[in-house]
Amino acid sequence: MSPPRLAVEEVSLAFSGLLALDEVCFTVEPGTVHAVIGPNGAGKSSLLNTLCGIYPVTGGRILLDEHEVTRLRTDRIAALGVGRTFQNIVVSPQESVLDNLMVGRHRLTSAGLVATALWLGRREQRRHEERVREIAHFVGLSARLDSTAGLLAYGDLKRLEFARALCLEPRLLILDEPVAGLNAAESWELGQLVLTARKALDLTVVFVEHDMGVVMSIADRITVLDFGRVVAEGLPAEVRRDPIVVSAYLGAPDRPEATPQAERTPQ
Ligand SMILES: Nc1ncnc2c1ncn2[C@@H]1O[C@H](COP(=O)(O)OP(=O)(O)OP(=O)(O)O)[C@@H](O)[C@H]1O
Ligand SMILES: [Mg+2]
Repeated sequence: MSPPRLAVEEVSLAFSGLLALDEVCFTVEPGTVHAVIGPNGAGKSSLLNTLCGIYPVTGGRILLDEHEVTRLRTDRIAALGVGRTFQNIVVSPQESVLDNLMVGRHRLTSAGLVATALWLGRREQRRHEERVREIAHFVGLSARLDSTAGLLAYGDLKRLEFARALCLEPRLLILDEPVAGLNAAESWELGQLVLTARKALDLTVVFVEHDMGVVMSIADRITVLDFGRVVAEGLPAEVRRDPIVVSAYLGAPDRPEATPQAERTPQ
């Protein structure tokens, strides 16, 4: 199946008086990697939450190809092929890496619904497990499949989260700060994995990230948010030169809320 086009049309989101998103518009073309950047509190995670139905929008529309997903439940949106990772790592620490990845297969499992015979359940289980092993190999976690997730090194946890989102067989992959907390080499590797996954699995990718080195090297286009509004949009080379972006995000010294990563000059 071909990768989807995502259209965000004048999307607004309010939290009891606070306008977290203010008529946000952008389009992600099929098969491209689209970054959303901006200072802390700009509304980036809130935007991702509206895309997968966690936060109901207060205005505007979200379209995945011809499907309007604006008011669909999260499971219906996932069923259309939207997979995501969260800003904070969400794994079951007592479970094995394999079991955490199998959770990602949940939406694709039909055994519970249609298989009355146990053998069919087992056969399907085996099929899912094979695919999970392939994905674990792809992200470099093969040797960790039987490890307890809670005992993984931080870098492996970030890979686990990425792999679990891939286990959903998404068409639109949404990543919230995929390389946060990783060192430069790990960040580069995970960034490259995103590009490889995009090509190999025919994905459209939307990601939020503060690491400007990764953003500039893997994004096809960038949308910049500040105070819930789009303040710039364009190719990486255009965005990094945009004076509004530079003052709003990339290094104004009087922005105490800017994170250390946010203050880094793009490479
Ligand atoms: N569930 C919520 N209830 C109330 N306010 C919220 C909620 N989620 C987010 N907000 C507020 O919306 C604004 C945007 O927050 P959001 O988490 O989207 O920012 P962000 O751009 O992802 O920031 P960061 O880079 O720090 O992750 C903030 O003012 C935040 O406090
Ligand atoms: Mg966030």
